[in-house]
Amino acid sequence: MTQNSVRIFEMSPRDGLQNEPVFTLTATKITRINLLLRCDFADIEATSFVSPKWVPQLADGAAVMVAIDRPPSVSYAALVPNMTGFDHALAAGVDSIGIFAAASQSFSQKNINCSIAESLGRFQPVMAAAAAHKIPVRGYISMVVHCPDDGDTDPQIVADLASRMMDMGCYQISLGDTVGMAKPPAIQKLLDQCVHAVGGAYLAGHYHDTGGQALANIAASLPYGIRCFDASVGGLGGCPYAPGAAGNVASEAVAEMLSKAGFATGLDHDALAVAAKFASSLRQPPANRPSTKRPSNNQPSSKRQTP
Ligand code: HMG
Ligand code: MG
Repeated sequence: MTQNSVRIFEMSPRDGLQNEPVFTLTATKITRINLLLRCDFADIEATSFVSPKWVPQLADGAAVMVAIDRPPSVSYAALVPNMTGFDHALAAGVDSIGIFAAASQSFSQKNINCSIAESLGRFQPVMAAAAAHKIPVRGYISMVVHCPDDGDTDPQIVADLASRMMDMGCYQISLGDTVGMAKPPAIQKLLDQCVHAVGGAYLAGHYHDTGGQALANIAASLPYGIRCFDASVGGLGGCPYAPGAAGNVASEAVAEMLSKAGFATGLDHDALAVAAKFASSLRQPPANRPSTKRPSNNQPSSKRQTP
């Protein structure tokens, strides 16, 4: 990869779909991923192997993985929160996994039902198993700028966590503006610390677009040497445990912006337009979307604190 090429890590099958309240048929998920292949993505996050009680939408991850086309040029990733998830991901034949932590204690509890320190403990055996199976691990950190419950995040906390996860063996850390309200000055403050801690080449931007600032945040990240951004075709998505957060920035908008700025993404813009149209057709109308809480029949274990 040259200084002028940027990788767009496609999130729509996982981050895009996990928040859709009505179950998307497995066959539709497979069709979507096969459409994404025409866009020439090198990295696609295909699903997650989390508790189906927590994210029912992605309970069919194994069935999706077994049926999608597997060109050698594409690496399929999946999120895993613990060893159960790792075992399922391995059996399903993923190419890489993502472990996901948070920079805010409240979100860590809401999202994975444990503290930040406990989550790192859970990741240790996952990292060891991944190393034994030669599976690359990406680290995610959520709420890197602001958490609706805990307020503004101290960039130093994110930088320390990023360092810790790199030391554990992650190949890259994806910095999540989960609620999508960050503006470029806040991203710059964050990157001042994180780039100092781990280096821009090991970071990715994962910017949700609730406040319409994600493209500006990407532009602000480029001078820090960041050359990988997470995005979702059609802007699909959100996190079920971060109420109100919109989807990742749209992949087609990122590709266009980067191309105008002289960066190569290797993506086919026409195919992106087709995939974005299909993604939009899957989006639930607002009336069908949950407001701030999941339906009670989707509530996970009683240990979970409600948002
Ligand atoms: P828990 O309830 O504390 O876990 O949840 P548990 O160990 O007590 O298990 C509860 C049940 O789930 C048990 O089943 C387990 O076997 C089962 P039961 O005995 O009740 O029948 N279980 C599993 N089943 C399948 N796969 C698994 C698994 N683990 C346990 N891996 C847990 C803890 C971590 C499991 C739960 O909190 C969870 O699954 N959370 C995932 C939430 C999630 O996926 N959130 C969205 C992704 S993160 C995100 O979107 C942010 C990101 O995009 C970046 C950003 O934007 O900031 C990455
Ligand atoms: Mg996200």
